[in-house]
Amino acid sequence: MWKPLQNTKSVTLVQGCLFAITAFIILMTVVAYHSYLVYRVRISGPRTTPPEAVLSDFSVPPCLFGDLPSARQQPVLRVVVVVYFSIPQKSTYLDQLKWCMRSLLEMAETEPPLWRTDLIIYMENVTLPQVLDLGCSTAPRRNAFQVYPEYERNLQEQMKEYPYLDSIYPLVEHSSSYSKYDFVVRSDLDVFFTPAFAGWIPPNCAFVTGNGGYSDTFNMEKLAHVASYSGIHFNASVRNVGSTWIGTPQLVAKVAERTVHWMVHLSRIEFSPKQRTIAWWGGAPLWMEWHYGVLSMYGGHLAVNEVLESGKRHPYLKLDLDHPTTSSASCTVDGPLHLHTYQSNVYFSKSEFNNRKYVGASALPAFLNSTRCDYAAYLAADSLVMTSVGLAERLRSAKLTTLQKRV
Ligand SMILES: *[C@@H]1O[C@H](CO)[C@@H](O)[C@H](O)[C@H]1NC(C)=O
Ligand SMILES: *[C@@H]1O[C@H](CO)[C@@H](O)[C@H](O)[C@H]1NC(C)=O
Ligand SMILES: *[C@@H]1O[C@H](CO)[C@@H](O)[C@H](O)[C@H]1NC(C)=O
Repeated sequence: MWKPLQNTKSVTLVQGCLFAITAFIILMTVVAYHSYLVYRVRISGPRTTPPEAVLSDFSVPPCLFGDLPSARQQPVLRVVVVVYFSIPQKSTYLDQLKWCMRSLLEMAETEPPLWRTDLIIYMENVTLPQVLDLGCSTAPRRNAFQVYPEYERNLQEQMKEYPYLDSIYPLVEHSSSYSKYDFVVRSDLDVFFTPAFAGWIPPNCAFVTGNGGYSDTFNMEKLAHVASYSGIHFNASVRNVGSTWIGTPQLVAKVAERTVHWMVHLSRIEFSPKQRTIAWWGGAPLWMEWHYGVLSMYGGHLAVNEVLESGKRHPYLKLDLDHPTTSSASCTVDGPLHLHTYQSNVYFSKSEFNNRKYVGASALPAFLNSTRCDYAAYLAADSLVMTSVGLAERLRSAKLTTLQKRV
């Protein structure tokens, strides 16, 4: 069973980590992670506890960072957790990893001097040389058959036609790998952290999400119905909860655990066996109504309602995360916090970049002009010019430089 960190303990940890991190500025832990995890989840007995009991043993420590100006004077540890890295598509993913780390270098150089922003990636092949060149430290899982205790009885059966369970389950199974941070960012890899993110943490330790795209009338009624017969809180004005989450480790782990719970429940009760097969849902015949392919979004929707209760249990906010890189917004400290590349050929496009189409007249910007969202394009271009070893070295020395400046 999950146990909250003691308040005093978490303060000691912050100081302890800061100490260690002065030496290792960016610590990137790669945890061995098997992509067919779902097939080896142990089937245990059915869970009999009602929803209230599920949450009554859950509390988060008081928010130590309620006020941003004073938080900027304190050590704050943020970690970006990326749960998906495809080995078969490794060249694409390495591009994205490099530019994402390039944006973390930008963070290291501009965030408050006592803050640290790490990156954790769960991946199958921890010895990939390109990843090691990027300065990652590997901490393989302790035991290949280690499983989350007393998990849902139907997980294995229900999730066999839902490969994207892998994009959420490691957050549940490996919550200890991020539990010592102050804030966790659950994000995809094809993203950029912006100048606005450099000096930002969630106000009042709120759980923050971006925007999803699944809340039509039919789906909202369906989700309200499930919440109603399950006896959990539901607020119909909370719509389209995005897949990028930022929160304290305790909240992220709890929301992830309940997301998996609701995914299994919905799959078992609210989808027919035929609708659950990839052969059926792969063609998205009824999109966007009740589409099995976005089961994790439906699960997240119920979990956010259940765990946060519209801010009554914990503050909840939807902010400008996953802002598209095709937008012309300004990337200043007042701009979006986080940019995401989508399937599109419009500038800045990850597929055009991946195919190295940004050459000649459409070459990417060679310097940073923050008055338009060239930020993504500039960082992506700059990540190509840098070697992995060079990028790792700059990440390592960035904080030392800021510390020297302070002295
Ligand atoms: C990843 O690991 C598998 C099994 O351990 C191995 O067969 C494969 O070659 C590795 N792939 C890469 C790209 O290193
Ligand atoms: C529902 O959520 C909105 C914000 O999204 C909030 O203003 C409102 O108070 C909530 N209502 C209830 C009944 O919790
Ligand atoms: C930066 O972009 C703005 C908006 O497109 C443009 O007006 C300005 O001239 C650019 N600055 C430089 C130095 O290129």
